[in-house]
Amino acid sequence: MFFASGSGSNFQAVVDAIENNEIDAVITGLISDNEHAGALRRAENHNIEVRVIKNFGTGEATEELLSVLRNWSPDLIILAGFLKKIPDEITRLYHNKIINIHPSLLPKYGGKGFYGKHVHQAVLEAGDKTSGCTVHYVNEEYDEGKIIMQKTVDVLPDDTPETLAARVLAEEHILLPNVIRQLLNQTK
Ligand code: GAR
Repeated sequence: MFFASGSGSNFQAVVDAIENNEIDAVITGLISDNEHAGALRRAENHNIEVRVIKNFGTGEATEELLSVLRNWSPDLIILAGFLKKIPDEITRLYHNKIINIHPSLLPKYGGKGFYGKHVHQAVLEAGDKTSGCTVHYVNEEYDEGKIIMQKTVDVLPDDTPETLAARVLAEEHILLPNVIRQLLNQTK
């Protein structure tokens, strides 16, 4: 199952990999904190169950989330562009079952405030020659869980945050399905 707050292109990459028989899995559902998330429309187009949970982080929302998780009983929980912190209660309960994709080479440019465009802007301001993306386990600390796999992307001299973001995102769409296949123990 997935969590997503935004456009959902990473979610779509996994849906496509499943539909192309590159991953043998069923997506039990998608949770979003944002009723306008493009990811919700993408899920509905593929008949995947969706839930919008507002007030994320409140006790009431956590109770609702726990009840959905109990129902869906996922083997793997994937944060694909999900911008809220997962409550500690849930990261502890689903230890080593929650993974996140992040648009930098963690531990660089991780933590609160580093998401989307902000990450790429910081990379360019620092003058880094490379950036990339990371899939890691989610623990109680933002972006600090054990790294599973990374992909490096060259930073080009005339890059803007937008051009760098686009090249990193293209790699995310390859990396995330690969990691999921590996974690579900499916070699290719
Ligand atoms: C992706 O670049 C993902 O790595 C990033 O948000 C984007 C979501 O795009 N996640 C974070 O910054 C998490 N800290 P998408 O909705 O098109 O998959």
